[in-house]
Amino acid sequence: MPVPDFRGGFIYFEGGNNVYTGNQLREMFLKFFESKGHRILPSASLIPKDDPTLLLTVAGMVPFKPYFMRKVEPPFPRATTSQKCVRTPDLEVVGKTARHHTFFEMLGNFSFGDYFKSDAIPWAWEFVTEVLKLPVEQLWITVHPEDEEAKALWIEKTSVSPDRIAYDPENLWAAGPVGPCGYCSEIYVDLGESRGCGKLDCAIGCDCDRFLEIWNLVFMQYNRDESGMLTPLPKQNIDTGMGLERIASVMQGAASNFDTDLFLPIINKVSELSGVPYHSNDKSDVAMKVVADHTRAVSFMLSDGIRPGSEGRGYVLRRILRRAIRYARLLGIDKPFLEQIFVIIQRDYSHHYPELKENENFILNHLRLEEKNFQATLEQGTLILQEKVKSLQEAGVTALSGADAFSLYETYGFPVELTEEMLLEQDMSVDMEGFNLAAEEHRRLAKEQSQQMRAVQESAAISEKAKALGTTPFRGYQELTIKTKIEALFQAGEEVKDAAEGDEVLVFLAESPFYAESGGQTSDRGMIRTQRAEAKLTEVKKGVTGTLYHHFIVTQGVLNLGDEVEALVDEKARQATARHHSATHLLQSALRTVLGEHVQQAGSFVTPERLRFDFTHFSSLTPMELTRVEDLLNEAVLANLPVAVVEMSLDAAKADGATALFGEKYGDTVRVVSMGDFSKELCGGTHIHASGDIGLVKIVSEGGIGAGLRRIEAVAGVEALNTMRSFNDQLLEIAQLLKAQPADLSKRIQGMLAQIKDLEKEVQQLNAKVAKSEVESLLQQVKEVEGVPVLATKVSAQDMDALRNTADLLKDKMKSGVLVLGAASEGKVNWVTVVTPTGLSGLHAGQIIKEVAKITGGGGGGRPDMAQAGGKDPAKLGEALDQVPAILKSFLSSKG
Ligand code: SER
Repeated sequence: MPVPDFRGGFIYFEGGNNVYTGNQLREMFLKFFESKGHRILPSASLIPKDDPTLLLTVAGMVPFKPYFMRKVEPPFPRATTSQKCVRTPDLEVVGKTARHHTFFEMLGNFSFGDYFKSDAIPWAWEFVTEVLKLPVEQLWITVHPEDEEAKALWIEKTSVSPDRIAYDPENLWAAGPVGPCGYCSEIYVDLGESRGCGKLDCAIGCDCDRFLEIWNLVFMQYNRDESGMLTPLPKQNIDTGMGLERIASVMQGAASNFDTDLFLPIINKVSELSGVPYHSNDKSDVAMKVVADHTRAVSFMLSDGIRPGSEGRGYVLRRILRRAIRYARLLGIDKPFLEQIFVIIQRDYSHHYPELKENENFILNHLRLEEKNFQATLEQGTLILQEKVKSLQEAGVTALSGADAFSLYETYGFPVELTEEMLLEQDMSVDMEGFNLAAEEHRRLAKEQSQQMRAVQESAAISEKAKALGTTPFRGYQELTIKTKIEALFQAGEEVKDAAEGDEVLVFLAESPFYAESGGQTSDRGMIRTQRAEAKLTEVKKGVTGTLYHHFIVTQGVLNLGDEVEALVDEKARQATARHHSATHLLQSALRTVLGEHVQQAGSFVTPERLRFDFTHFSSLTPMELTRVEDLLNEAVLANLPVAVVEMSLDAAKADGATALFGEKYGDTVRVVSMGDFSKELCGGTHIHASGDIGLVKIVSEGGIGAGLRRIEAVAGVEALNTMRSFNDQLLEIAQLLKAQPADLSKRIQGMLAQIKDLEKEVQQLNAKVAKSEVESLLQQVKEVEGVPVLATKVSAQDMDALRNTADLLKDKMKSGVLVLGAASEGKVNWVTVVTPTGLSGLHAGQIIKEVAKITGGGGGGRPDMAQAGGKDPAKLGEALDQVPAILKSFLSSKG
């Protein structure tokens, strides 16, 4: 790694060059808080778990929201993390400022109802001034104007001087429009006048780079609801966040976050690939920073299993990735490069984020594919821009409209900078004001849409109850019918005491045999009953508290709170689902054997009727591959492999070679389902006892569902039999219709196709004969106009092609003269005129047709020997034909 040039940095360390690296700083932070009784946890995924209000993890506190809101009892009182985060509202300024990123690491310490302000404040100060040894005289603090308590604590518990504490009315922090929030207090570093904007009023709070916020301490004590109302949380909490990149820039005396050891190796690689030295000019520096930042974000997002797509977080990922490619283009990189940068990111970050190694195949597959596809899009966009430029030049316009530039940006992902650059080469420009207006309007619409998408919150009464009950014991792995009890009944969010026939109710049971939809396996079907009442299960879901949410519709009698009930799983449906689920595991193994180890599950859906399995693979399966997969599957079925289910720790399961999906947490206990040596997967679903129970598996479809993604649908057991039977029935029906034996069908159909071909030929010949005889009779109508033979007549021709054919035949027969043929079709008139030989008596077909077509409300023209035209008024066709002699006469006399 090249050694960063830290000359000019403002902080000097004992021992001269001994600058802390980003890795050291991360470690120092976590260890410091471990020494204060915090548990060090690994970063959670960038995909927020069970949180419909957020697309991505935007702060260190996101994974802990259920603890702050006490939806779940926190398993420990304090934690500290370095959390992977992605924020995109500042996308456009990334690379232009010293401190913005899309992906960043946030260091944080958290208290779940344990310590509060009076500990959080002095600990933060201790870390900053005693561990990092930042000079006290360069530090500033902000507090909310209504948080005098925080101000007093800073004065009482730290060595900060009171005149260094400023009020900031914006010091109220929340992770989203609804959820936990609280006043906050920030620590700033004064980087010195040389980094400032130079304005007289430049002070703490100024937007320039002089005062850098390094740490935000949030005193989480309220919950904000949809109407914006704040209610106190059950307990007071602490959530702090310090951007690792920022603190590294301060500690390394770097000019920006990008000039730290966290970024320089990536930037150097970009520089190497483009041949443009870093710090050669401002513009290329911005592009390099964007490429470095975005490639890092994309690598981390992929490593958490986010797949590029056209909506949600997949869209965010694709957008960032495309931006990286576009900015690389500005630097002259027009070949695939993402992989080479990823290698550096993986080298420098995977010791702390092992998912960058574990999911390497997935990451590389998507990087390559997206890059390839986007290059093609860019080329297409370039062509469109070139066309546009040409037509503007022809029209003498020198600026591309803002709307056009924006549509290139939206549709082809063309950065406006690139558009500007390409136009500049032609001495043209872009209407940037128009572009900004169009972009603004687009943002407004997008915001409106996202507000409409605001997640529906479950009622407080339901969450309270779920929390009080906690995890519902699931008995359905062993038993399909159990006796249990109704612990709570809800209707439309309200707790009720009973529910009568026709009511739809949410029920919490003391124990449950019903499988809740998860891992792609659909909910069980079934019912509950008492002696006088029955209710049909419509859905079961598992909440964050582990409580099973059963949705029933009462079909008979009245259900009461506290009723002892018999809960019955629909055995047939459960067994059919289990067959499809086990078959899905076999399918995954078979696909890996036939196609290769790159095959990864991308989604699955298993019901009693069928299975759907989505996986990564980059081309469609050949018929031979499909047959091979189907054969392997059925061989495994016939081998009657025993199905074994074992519970173990995730680490042990991985070490044992089980196929895991994204999102499982370390330290969790997992179920490993294996079928002989053929398949071993982590899975919470329900399975058959031995693979022979599946009976038969039949693949019914295979197709693409997105870039690099395929889907297979298959049926198993009774459904496979039904499917084969229905294929057979169709075959028999066709055989009957064709009066043939099924085995002779193909020969019979080939014969029929040949017969159809012969018949078509015959029809064509007959048509030609008819046309010929029509021509003969038309020729009888030729009249002379001043010595020139003229045929002006109406013919039947369904379109212009047919009309021209008739004209050709007539022309050949007539040898010399003028043809004016009109045909009415679909409320319009078609005209063809021929003058043969060319120039006969000075006549011009184009001029004649112009006059004739005019009478039927049309126009046209053409060559002297042949012309065609249209008209709108078929009723005038006869009149126009009658006028032909007069029209010809006028031309003849003018020539004569
Ligand atoms: N949640 C706060 C922030 O992101 C502190 O961690 O700034």
